[in-house]
Amino acid sequence: MENSWKMFEEFHIDEEMGFALPNPLVELPHPYDAWISIARNLPQLIEDGQLRTEVEKLATLSIDGLQGHKEQRLGHLALGYLTMAYVWGRGGGDVRKVLPSNIAIPYCRLSEKLGLPPILVYADCVLANWKKKDPSGPMTYENMDILFSFPGGDCGKGFFLISLLVEMAAASAIKVIPIIFKAVQCEDSETLQDALREIASCLKRALERFHQIHDYVDPDIFFNVLRIYLSGWKGNPSLPEGLLYEGVWDTPKQFAGGSAAQSSVFQCFDVLLGVQHAAGGASSVSAAEFLQEMRTYMPPAHRNFLRSLESGPSVREFVLSKGDASLRETYNKCVQAMVSLRKYHFQIVTKYILIPARRKSKEKGTSKGSSKSEDKGTGGTSLVDFLKTVRRTTEKTLLKEG
Ligand code: HEM
Repeated sequence: MENSWKMFEEFHIDEEMGFALPNPLVELPHPYDAWISIARNLPQLIEDGQLRTEVEKLATLSIDGLQGHKEQRLGHLALGYLTMAYVWGRGGGDVRKVLPSNIAIPYCRLSEKLGLPPILVYADCVLANWKKKDPSGPMTYENMDILFSFPGGDCGKGFFLISLLVEMAAASAIKVIPIIFKAVQCEDSETLQDALREIASCLKRALERFHQIHDYVDPDIFFNVLRIYLSGWKGNPSLPEGLLYEGVWDTPKQFAGGSAAQSSVFQCFDVLLGVQHAAGGASSVSAAEFLQEMRTYMPPAHRNFLRSLESGPSVREFVLSKGDASLRETYNKCVQAMVSLRKYHFQIVTKYILIPARRKSKEKGTSKGSSKSEDKGTGGTSLVDFLKTVRRTTEKTLLKEG
């Protein structure tokens, strides 16, 4: 890997925004504006019981008129919102198992073109779902907004924008990766150590951004409202067979729901630091399989970036081979920053999923703890086992003295 931003262009990584789409479009030309106007009024249409009728009235559009990557990404985002809203309705259990052909056909064609699945993914609702209020102002929560919302007021805005801000904090660390690989190749420990220090401090900043979630996301609304609309149809008892995309496939298809597990950021630093998720027992194999599966929900350029990192030199082996205590300590600071992010993430999951789930099952009079389906993340994992396994594997990557 050369130390050049040209290389990142190939992988759709932006110097400032990292994996996020820089300055997403907010409008589509006619006739695709029909998708946008429904997506923009989604919470109101759902409340009025009009959403499904409006979706059913849409013309079946060819996607050939969507010019360029940004129009296609906005189309995918808007159709993703429409699909989630169509399937989950008011979120109260009245679920649709068939997506009508007028939306299923363009959605599946566009998904194929972008190399994404036909469901709302993180690359849609976080990476391509933002704008600045004042275009000349800073990239801060106060100066930013999302393009489309689900019911639940500003909860979605909080969840999506905080995820985006975490991504952006980590973006500065992505820049350093080519320097790291070059330093390892040239056996330049000093440059490597400086670059690792930079990574550790960016990951620390990412953790600080994470803290802001408490200011903007309400646990009850997240759990009872937003989570429903992010849910997928893979391993979901509400749609056990999956969703039938009418006019595209003859049988229902299963896809996992939107989750930050589809972010490339954590996986990118795992690869760089040599965190091997499959290295432990059976639980780590299934955690690693889930993380690999999540790569298929990322834009192909980002997936390719992760694969290309895997073929780079091993930073961990180099640090080990040098036997230099100070270099090892700096490397460990990076791994420790990943552990801290994951520990903090687990606290968030406890507050936003496990505690509300326990409360809900108590209200329902279910005897022990949360029910089976509440234990699942929107990506469909048995979340406690999965998250603990991933954290433990990261911890085990820390290098011991001597
Ligand atoms: C209310 C806030 C959040 C909740 C409730 C939450 C919940 C979850 C759950 C349940 C999983 C397990 C996979 C699944 O089934 O979806 C997961 C995985 C993950 N989440 Fe979050 N999450 C939140 C915020 C974030 C944010 C802001 C980020 C960072 C951008 C993030 C990054 C990840 C990553 C990278 C994974 C994969 C596991 C790992 O690599 O450690 N999450 N999350």
